[in-house]
Amino acid sequence: MKRIKSLQFFAVLLAVLAQPFHSSECPTTISEDLRQDCHPEPGASETSCITRGCRWCETSAPNVPFCFYDSVEDPTCPNNVPVQKRIDCHPQLGASKEACEAKGCIWCSTKVSNAPWCSFPEVGPYGYALSGQPQKTAKGWRLVLMKRNTMMSLFGNDISPVAIDVEFQTKDRLRFKIYDPNSQRFEVPLKIESPSTAAADTSYDIEFINDPSFQFKIIRKSTGTVLWDTSLGDLIFAKQYLQITTTVPSTSVYGFGEHEHPSFKHNMNFVNYGMFSRDQPPTTFANLYGVHPFYMCIESDSNTHGILLLNSNAQDITLSPNPSLTFRTIGGILDFYVFLGPTPENVVQQYTEAIGRPHFPSYWSLGFQLSRYGYGSLDVVKKTVDRMRQYGIPYDVQYGDIDYMERHLDFTYDKENYAGLPEYIQQLKKDGMHYVIILDPFLSKDEAPGTYRPYELGQEMGIWVNNSDRVTPAVGKAWPPGDSVFPDYTNPRTADWWIQMCVEFKTVLDYDGLWIDMNEPANFGTGQYPGCALNDLNYPPYVPRITDSSLAQKTLCPDSKTYLGDHYNTHSLFGWSQTPPTFIAVQKATGKRAFVLSRSTFVGSGKYAGHWLGDNFSRWKDMHMSIIGMLEFNLFGIPYIGADICGFLLDTTYELCLRWMQLGSFYPFSRNHNGEGQTEQDPAVFGAEFAEISRSTLLIRYTLLPYLYTLFFDSHVHGNTVVRGLMHEFTSDHQTHGIDTAFLWGPAFMIAPVLQEGARSVDVYFPEASWFDYYTGDEVPASWHRKYVSVDAPLDKIPLFLRGGYILPTQAPATTTTRSRLNPFGLLIALDERGEASGSLFWDDGDSIDSIEKEVYFLAKYTFSEGQMRTKVVKNGYRGVDSLIYNTVQVLGVTSRPNAIVLNGNVIRGKDLQYQENGKLTLQISVPLTEELNIILQ
Ligand SMILES: *[C@@H]1O[C@H](CO)[C@@H](O)[C@H](O)[C@H]1NC(C)=O
Ligand SMILES: *[C@@H]1O[C@H](CO)[C@@H](O)[C@H](O)[C@H]1NC(C)=O
Repeated sequence: MKRIKSLQFFAVLLAVLAQPFHSSECPTTISEDLRQDCHPEPGASETSCITRGCRWCETSAPNVPFCFYDSVEDPTCPNNVPVQKRIDCHPQLGASKEACEAKGCIWCSTKVSNAPWCSFPEVGPYGYALSGQPQKTAKGWRLVLMKRNTMMSLFGNDISPVAIDVEFQTKDRLRFKIYDPNSQRFEVPLKIESPSTAAADTSYDIEFINDPSFQFKIIRKSTGTVLWDTSLGDLIFAKQYLQITTTVPSTSVYGFGEHEHPSFKHNMNFVNYGMFSRDQPPTTFANLYGVHPFYMCIESDSNTHGILLLNSNAQDITLSPNPSLTFRTIGGILDFYVFLGPTPENVVQQYTEAIGRPHFPSYWSLGFQLSRYGYGSLDVVKKTVDRMRQYGIPYDVQYGDIDYMERHLDFTYDKENYAGLPEYIQQLKKDGMHYVIILDPFLSKDEAPGTYRPYELGQEMGIWVNNSDRVTPAVGKAWPPGDSVFPDYTNPRTADWWIQMCVEFKTVLDYDGLWIDMNEPANFGTGQYPGCALNDLNYPPYVPRITDSSLAQKTLCPDSKTYLGDHYNTHSLFGWSQTPPTFIAVQKATGKRAFVLSRSTFVGSGKYAGHWLGDNFSRWKDMHMSIIGMLEFNLFGIPYIGADICGFLLDTTYELCLRWMQLGSFYPFSRNHNGEGQTEQDPAVFGAEFAEISRSTLLIRYTLLPYLYTLFFDSHVHGNTVVRGLMHEFTSDHQTHGIDTAFLWGPAFMIAPVLQEGARSVDVYFPEASWFDYYTGDEVPASWHRKYVSVDAPLDKIPLFLRGGYILPTQAPATTTTRSRLNPFGLLIALDERGEASGSLFWDDGDSIDSIEKEVYFLAKYTFSEGQMRTKVVKNGYRGVDSLIYNTVQVLGVTSRPNAIVLNGNVIRGKDLQYQENGKLTLQISVPLTEELNIILQ
């Protein structure tokens, strides 16, 4: 048998070889008619092709791809499916020819790495067919589908009929929900508001096809681009296995989380990512702390759309080179939301309009923050704070990690090693600083009776996650001594208890914010005691590609019970459900805008919390990945984001930590945090040179904080990203699609950090725009546009650039925001090639809960054109601005020395006016913030 096969193969190979080659240079034996396109979307080049591991060979023959797979599939395979179109029919481990064919699928080996050998046939036996006619509903359509062949099942218990509700929710938002019309399944309780009737005018069309399986398409009306098309694979809807495949119109696909992705723009060569919240230090491909089944795709004409699968069950996503995406989840329903953009910013605005806009952070929380696990004592904290001050390093927030607690017990502090902590917190506050404490979700159940009220009250209230018997609490092991129980935050009673505990504890430690950790939820064992019973919830027929293929490892058994249902469904919602009550607790306790930092997040968490990228390693590679994570969380509607500066695990080095301080000075959430037992890494510990470089970089951050704060205001009100990739702003420049080594604050400020050891320059890509060096004001020459250019980056410098066309509000920096907020403001005006620019400033007291709702704020808009700058005060509702002034105005890109400057009718001259040959104009002025500026260059 084997011999015959190889003989046949040889015969075909000979036939292939006998065909004339197009070019003798083509490094291939694959004939033109056998080529399988490896770069179906536009923009193929030899380099992009070879990077994908494919062959490049130009030809004049029509419709023959230049870029194609470097393998001939085994030609003896029956009904062979071209490799890029293959959808895995044996996604679980242990595929074999026999197992594959028994499922009615095709077994065919391939040399293409990670491509499935077992794939669904092109016309599948697994699909559904439309039953009856689509019915019109108030919001759109309702369809009923019947399984075509009830004998065929991948994992058993297929459901038929299934229903699809299509809702035309808004002009740019479409929802389609595939569910069991006869039995209620778990649905994520995220409230997404939508009008009760279908949007009349939509930017999308849908198309149903029933030939022979049901398929459907979503089309962008204005261009005809197909955004969603299920024709590549059959829908599967079983009790514990749901699968759907769509083609995507290009390979510029971003998002899905939380993972450590090697690149911002995804590799689509059969890459798979599992999603299931897990206490897992970032490791490439592993499922991490949060779950975000959301992606964004830039179509080939630069229109952009985004799609959410609102599902919280363990799931995975396969990105295939067709290009296509295959979603697999093991519970809930298939509830998709499509956002039509058409710009990347519009997509994020529409996404956050649906899931909840990001919360508005306090001004102080934009300052630099310092933390470590294992200071060990208050003395060490004090020493650290003192050396930070000695070097004058800007610094707003100090943290207490779990070692401030007594024996790791929530709502206690260590009265020996941290004796005097309450008084010290007061002292920090007098110096204008803030203090944030960590809280874990689990509580020890083994303290002596009558000594640990948080547990006893919770026990009385019946608020823990229970075992499958629904009455006894699930007991696991975590940080505190003894064994622990796990509050079930999906239960409203638990929220009451938690808020009460947090508010009461504020009288012990006067914290300003809460940092909620370990809320995946983390447990040190596999499942609670005594382990997980053998049943379909704990051991489902398919386990998505998550670490160790285990749903219980480092957490609770899936058959545990929460108020909202089985832990199987609600596991990844644990941190998400803990976040709103924590937010309310901080608001109540402090009376101020809440600060909540959560390790586990889900769709919509950004409304209540920020996030840090987890227990990262102190390695150069991790520093690069932190940019990718930061860009992704901005897509997920969680713009208050940053990684642990200098890394958490492993010891850092001088140079790595210094470069990371420079990069981290531009994280929206800027915190240096370290693991237990690691050498100290605060920016003051490495001596004077390091401290001075950190100080000067942080002073730039503090100078630009009014701009950053205004970006957060825009994000909170309109849903914009705060930090964004270059592709958000220069979408039609395809070279920007893959850039993740540099990033922008809003539209106007580019940060291009050093990410390599020993490097003293950075290759920076300058999209078509005017750019100015932040340090000198020199304009980047036009010959650098659309190119990578090597820019100097000595150890004391992180390359920074301003984009022409924008006006950034600034403020003279200080060592805390409490002090800098009293300083004079400035305007940094970078002109574009037409000599124009615009910008705005939002200002309020920085920490009131509802300054926007109550209109107690100040908002000014600035425009510059035809040699004239004008301010318009849009809102003047905050009296705290009355004592503030503008003292400098800098204009970059001025083409010739002005003869005179007229400011609000008065001529400025002398030392108050400076003009440099590089086109930088500096004015010293003194004008109240509330006065509208009118500056004329003559
Ligand atoms: C868990 O068990 C307690 C009794 O110990 C009960 O009061 C509570 O309602 C149960 N919760 C769930 C979600 O089963
Ligand atoms: C850290 O972990 C996050 C995920 O939690 C990942 O996105 C990021 O790239 C990792 N690296 C750094 C340096 O943050």
